[in-house]
Amino acid sequence: MRRVIEVRTVHTAGLDGASLDNARALLDAVFGDDMSDDDWEHALGGMHALAWEEGELIGHASVVQRRLLHGGRALRTGYVEGVGVREDRRRRGHGAALMGAIERVVRGAYELGALGATDEAAEFYKSRGWQPWRGPTSALTPTGTRRTEEDDGGIYVLPVAARLDLTGELTCDWRDGDVW
Ligand SMILES: CC(C)(COP(=O)(O)OP(=O)(O)OC[C@H]1O[C@@H](n2cnc3c(N)ncnc32)[C@H](O)[C@@H]1OP(=O)(O)O)[C@@H](O)C(=O)NCCC(=O)NCCS
Repeated sequence: MRRVIEVRTVHTAGLDGASLDNARALLDAVFGDDMSDDDWEHALGGMHALAWEEGELIGHASVVQRRLLHGGRALRTGYVEGVGVREDRRRRGHGAALMGAIERVVRGAYELGALGATDEAAEFYKSRGWQPWRGPTSALTPTGTRRTEEDDGGIYVLPVAARLDLTGELTCDWRDGDVW
């Protein structure tokens, strides 16, 4: 029998402490040691999509606002964070359902979507129309603009309203932890 999966979208402000702990625990299980406190903090302050199966949280994704500089503009960007589906529930369409909910937010509220993809998830995002950024990436840091060569090729965008040259420069705003 096919199990019923429910995907809910909710702002961080609508999640109580236990729900946030639950989401963090899921991402800890998905990413292991790669999941830092900064990574979790990056996933907060915007809209979350949560996938539930019979009362158990099995998937999470969120989108928060950032500014990405490109073509002389500071683009209002929906930046996607914390995308993960419990290992024993993968390849059943849950990641696609989560991203569908997140992409509706991106298309409705932002000029573009962006994310830093793991190698493992690149095909997943490509299959949904996300495009790899081909130009050089940088970050606005407290000490000036700094190239982020290590992130080149790993940033994906979902064009919405912004005019983009995917071979041009793309610069993100500053934050603690991984900047992209
Ligand atoms: C990436 C991830 C969220 C995908 O979730 P999922 O529920 O397995 O994805 P879906 O079942 O909705 O996949 C939809 C489509 O994406 C593509 N896809 C998904 N996972 C893929 C993989 N590992 N390799 C290649 N294509 C993949 C396929 O086209 C798939 O359709 P199909 O199963 O009919 O072939 C999940 O693998 C995951 O949590 N990975 C570990 C954490 C991670 O890397 N997160 C991304 C951070 S940027």
